[in-house]
Amino acid sequence: MSLNEAALLGAHRQRFGREGRAFEAPARVNLIGEHTDYTGGLVMPMAIGFRTVAVISPREDGRAVFYSDNYGEEVSYEISSLERAPRGHWSDYPVGVLWSLGQEGVGVGGFSMSLMGDVPLGAGLSSSASVEVATAMALLAHAGVELPLDQLATMCRRAENEYVGAKSGIMDQFIVAGGIEHRAMMLDCRSLGFELLPLPEQVRVVICNSMVKHAVATGEYGDRRDEVEAGQSVLRHERKGVELLRDATLTDLETCREKMSAASYARCRHIITENARVLQAREALLAGDVDRFGALMVKAHASMRDDFAASCPEVDTLVDIAMRQAGCFGARITGGGFGGCTVNVVREEAAAGFVDAVKREYEAATGIKADCFVSAASDGALALAKAGVR
Ligand code: GLA
Repeated sequence: MSLNEAALLGAHRQRFGREGRAFEAPARVNLIGEHTDYTGGLVMPMAIGFRTVAVISPREDGRAVFYSDNYGEEVSYEISSLERAPRGHWSDYPVGVLWSLGQEGVGVGGFSMSLMGDVPLGAGLSSSASVEVATAMALLAHAGVELPLDQLATMCRRAENEYVGAKSGIMDQFIVAGGIEHRAMMLDCRSLGFELLPLPEQVRVVICNSMVKHAVATGEYGDRRDEVEAGQSVLRHERKGVELLRDATLTDLETCREKMSAASYARCRHIITENARVLQAREALLAGDVDRFGALMVKAHASMRDDFAASCPEVDTLVDIAMRQAGCFGARITGGGFGGCTVNVVREEAAAGFVDAVKREYEAATGIKADCFVSAASDGALALAKAGVR
């Protein structure tokens, strides 16, 4: 899992002829609270040990040059004439951050940047936010500017929403920037207030990749979001005091049922019940009640599958297999959905056996080899930079 930062610094020096500075951003897994962020709801992610590393050095020609070590490709832009012009290319993410910083009023002089990452792509672990935040950390240091967590996350989200064109919420950028080791974070996506929560010592978080790829920038994620927004606007119109879905109760939703499509009704029901589950999950963590936490994860998965229609047969199979294993408290799909990973909470001593059994049984059932990782909660980019791991 660990990237070779020294090698990237060496490669950067060789390619650009200048010594660079390295900045890191992790990936994230969401424990519970899915598709709630863009309606001001509650989420509970943690940062994990996959990384994007961005190495930056100055250049004198006023250009922004990005090199991706993963793709073996370079792109180059004149900073003073940078426009919003996404190309459907890996470079949209870092270039989008440069553009978004400009919108923020942060001027950036010419630079060369090398990017390298080991975050699995399309797996629902926020490879895009990891690239955005690593890029932002490097650009901000280059510009000599510091941004507080909420502004940093919002600026990166703007890159994704307005430059890349993916209608994502704030969760990923916020946790990737603001995560803290050994802690999950309950984030209120309306106020951006958050609480760091202890993870029980006797369990491990295991991430299983179904290897079915998803993309937030295209297709179903946007469709779901449209269905949610249609439902939300009916509620806003019909129910006093409801501005965002976050404000609505199941009673509000029932009252408006006839005024929205069956799809919008079901999507909104998922979100309203999911916000309640996040609050209960917080209580369970504070009480050290892993059984209760696991049961909430299982309910959250059923709601993502049935009401939100954002799972897929392979991921459902992964969850079913997980829940049959001894020592597994809870399992659910994590991230945007339509493939990607499951997150599982497993008794520590059972974790290694769990991984073996899930891989074996998943391959027998689907013919696909899953990747599984036992993950600890890691620091986000800001804490990594503070600790000198940049
Ligand atoms: C993706 C988005 C997030 C969030 C999740 C679903 O990861 O980037 O903003 O909406 O999906 O919870």
